[in-house]
Amino acid sequence: MVEKLENHLQFKQYLLESPIYKGGNPIQMIRDQYGIEEITKLASNENPLPTSPKVIEALQNAVSNLNRYPSNDDESLREQLANYVQKGVHKDQFFTANGGCDVLALIAQGFLSEGDEAIVCPPTFPIYDITIKQMGAKSVHAARKSDFSYDIDAILTAVTPKTRLVYLCSPNNPTGNVLTQAEFDYLMDRLPSYVVVVADEVYWQFNTNEVMADSLAYVNQGYPIIVVHSFSKLFGLAGLRLGYAISTPQIADYLSRGKRPFHINHLTLTAANAALNDREMIENVTAVTIEERTKLVHAMSKLEGLTVFPSESNFILFKPEQDSVQLSEKLQQEGMIIRELSRFYLPGYCRVSVGLPEENERFLQLIQKLL
Ligand SMILES: Cc1ncc(COP(=O)(O)O)c(C=O)c1O
Repeated sequence: MVEKLENHLQFKQYLLESPIYKGGNPIQMIRDQYGIEEITKLASNENPLPTSPKVIEALQNAVSNLNRYPSNDDESLREQLANYVQKGVHKDQFFTANGGCDVLALIAQGFLSEGDEAIVCPPTFPIYDITIKQMGAKSVHAARKSDFSYDIDAILTAVTPKTRLVYLCSPNNPTGNVLTQAEFDYLMDRLPSYVVVVADEVYWQFNTNEVMADSLAYVNQGYPIIVVHSFSKLFGLAGLRLGYAISTPQIADYLSRGKRPFHINHLTLTAANAALNDREMIENVTAVTIEERTKLVHAMSKLEGLTVFPSESNFILFKPEQDSVQLSEKLQQEGMIIRELSRFYLPGYCRVSVGLPEENERFLQLIQKLL
């Protein structure tokens, strides 16, 4: 028998050991598995509203030019983004990539090497740990307090001369709470200047709590902070993959050097342009999501057999008294996909995304039946 050629290859051990991210279960998979026609997916914090007609029209016009490379220069997108975000930020402070996850991967690529450390505050978004491990660096956990607020002293204690990054998520996925201005000020006053803060704020548009820290004010003062935003949430373009970061011009330029040629494809660039021009859609999604979230939290808090947590995002965290894995499986068998949170460092808890009014109603009816 021929010896396996793979035995001669030098795989990177840390890449071999990197976990593979598992997203929310896709609708078609559950349809095939249970043979149910009516499936509601409230598992991935997507925008449930249909894609903006302006985006669809722009995409239809763009598909005929796919034989050409897209523009390799994202300057006009960065200009539009600066105009959208406001807050005194300039196009040279932006860095674009294929979704927030790609931004996070490029940040890890830019700042982490084998043996470096990065601080993560679970329960939070699992991609931080994955991108840290993909670089052969070590993830150091500074867990949140029992009310899910940040333990800033735990973060500061975890800092060593090897620390390169601290990941903060606000509003945090999956707990829905924000990092407060007081917590952020306390951290920024004490964090050594060689540590870069990654402020993942992909759900920022859904926040209504004025205590949420203003990370961009620190960016504008020149602190080494990278604020991460995404087009997968409010803009409803999760399927196209676009994300961006805002930082100092030096960091934005540095990170952009890790990108591939023609990193962002023609369709994505086209859709982003149309979406940013559709101000009506932006306002409508924000208003509908906040209104539906309020109604859903209120209705869930009346149910017996679960504890519901307040949210500043487009999803809601809850803890059922019964087994969370079994509950989410039973819901799935009824055609309702939500997220059980063992993979988010939170076994025993579940997360439901805010959907359309009829989807939220269906969720409430099913969960009431199962609790
Ligand atoms: C906290 C957080 N950051 C980043 C992302 C990345 O989103 P995307 O890669 O779709 O832009 C997500 C997606 O769910 C998220 O929840």
